[in-house]
Amino acid sequence: MPVINRFAELHDEIVAWRRDYHRHPELLYDVHRTAADVAKKLRAFGFDEVVEGIGRTGVVGVLKGESDPAEAGGRVIGLRADMDALPIREESGKPWASEIPGKMHACGHDGHTAMLLGAARYLSETRRFSGTAIFIFQPAEEGGAGGRAMVEDGLMDRFAIEEVYGMHNMPGLPLGHFALRPGPIMAATDMFSVEIDGLGGHAAQPHRTIDTIVAASAIVQAIQSIVSRNVDPLASAVVSVTTINAGSAFNVIPQRAKLTGTVRSLDALVRDQLERRLREVVQNVAAAYGATAHFTYTRSYPVTVNHAEQAEKAASVARDVAGELNVDASHAPVMGGEDFSFMLEARPGAFIFVGNGDTAGLHHPAYDFNDAAINHGSSYWARLVETLMPAA
Ligand code: NI
Repeated sequence: MPVINRFAELHDEIVAWRRDYHRHPELLYDVHRTAADVAKKLRAFGFDEVVEGIGRTGVVGVLKGESDPAEAGGRVIGLRADMDALPIREESGKPWASEIPGKMHACGHDGHTAMLLGAARYLSETRRFSGTAIFIFQPAEEGGAGGRAMVEDGLMDRFAIEEVYGMHNMPGLPLGHFALRPGPIMAATDMFSVEIDGLGGHAAQPHRTIDTIVAASAIVQAIQSIVSRNVDPLASAVVSVTTINAGSAFNVIPQRAKLTGTVRSLDALVRDQLERRLREVVQNVAAAYGATAHFTYTRSYPVTVNHAEQAEKAASVARDVAGELNVDASHAPVMGGEDFSFMLEARPGAFIFVGNGDTAGLHHPAYDFNDAAINHGSSYWARLVETLMPAA
């Protein structure tokens, strides 16, 4: 059962929605225009219930199948898309490029929202399923933990969601392909900062100073050994220093230096180990140079872990849509983060990648969601509902 024909008829309309969102990107929780449009569309499709303002600006649509949910022993499945954009100046050159300077849909969340709306349109016409499909449109995926906000706002209990599914486009994965894996599929994303305090002074008299630049350099070098010497070589981890700031003049040794960086892991124990070793190495290396280090570690998104049973169901639906050969059900994990992880901590479910073809990468100024992926993404959502909750 390949892509659903109805989506070929709806394609131009879904593309128009997608490009409208693309022209009007909104950041974090400030997705008022997008959320209002999503809610309006769901109501126009005849949804049984549409609730706005969950997790501040999230939208939830409830669609019941043709057979009485209770009678059919109906189940409740959640389908999630994200709506927010990024603070990047767009350089795609597309006619539908962002009309808001400094903001763009550089992660394809415009496409995610449009594909899920396409499935909402189709399923509201057909309703060939039992049980209840919950359509979840979340704000603030890009660093604002909008997924956690919706969960904390009672999303799962209020709508009695039993399983939850998510999707992200993947540049480099061919169009019409899907990829996923059971277990960890995306990394925990943590941040650290180090403020090093020494003794500033004249650059010609280093013996009368505690040089924070030398201490900071030693710290940057020393923490490279955490991944190579402390973490199990069969596990995965990233420690990257991404900013280093110190000094203001060529002849002054600065009093202070500051480093920040990111830490990625696919396993809770490795995550704990990375935090512990970073703290130890930073503080002890600083001390070796006579400086003091104030170390701060901030845990952001947890590991996105696909549940084995739901990942297999998702893979099976993707095979129905895309064909056996076009689904990689043991894809390597990605060290990027995803706040769908909070939903997978609350309920069993699975996160899947849909091919965006040979396009610029995510978060690149030239990136654009590939509209040719829409039929595959929308078909996956529709078939997922029809397969997991078959009509009586
Ligand atoms: Ni994204």
